[in-house]
Amino acid sequence: MSEFTLIVNGERRRVVTGGDEPLLSVLREHLKLTGTKYGCGEGQCGACTVLVDGQAMHSCQVPVSVAAGARITTIEGLEQDGKLTPVQQAFLDEGAMQCGYCTSGMILAATALLQQTPHPNDQQIVEGMNHNICRCGAYPRIVKAVRRAAGMNGRGSGR
Ligand code: FES
Ligand code: FES
Repeated sequence: MSEFTLIVNGERRRVVTGGDEPLLSVLREHLKLTGTKYGCGEGQCGACTVLVDGQAMHSCQVPVSVAAGARITTIEGLEQDGKLTPVQQAFLDEGAMQCGYCTSGMILAATALLQQTPHPNDQQIVEGMNHNICRCGAYPRIVKAVRRAAGMNGRGSGR
């Protein structure tokens, strides 16, 4: 067991655990940030996506020892002063969810995509989101939400 300091949603948090413990369970079990979801636990579904220094990563695959010192953003850390981010608002406006289990991971993946590519075309949206699975098949609405968040709703390919 060792002590690790994480910077989660702008706050320094200390946890005592084994260095191999996945960031996902540290967030959910130690820090009680349960918006990040456990899906497959194998890096395949993206339900556990968080931002690590601005990059979308599957937190089930990131050992806490690797995440220590990095800036971690979870779904709980996106809104500021009660105001949703454009991506969160767009997912709501487009109804881009059914059961909602994939949604926090989708929103984090879309946030990272738009930070890197502010005006993606549809192919770039699909490629940028293809590490995230929606078992409910809400993909068309998810793509629309990403387009809306990028200010491109109704532009088809987004070009
Ligand atoms: S739970 Fe991490 S990718 Fe599925
Ligand atoms: S809304 Fe159910 S898994 Fe995506």
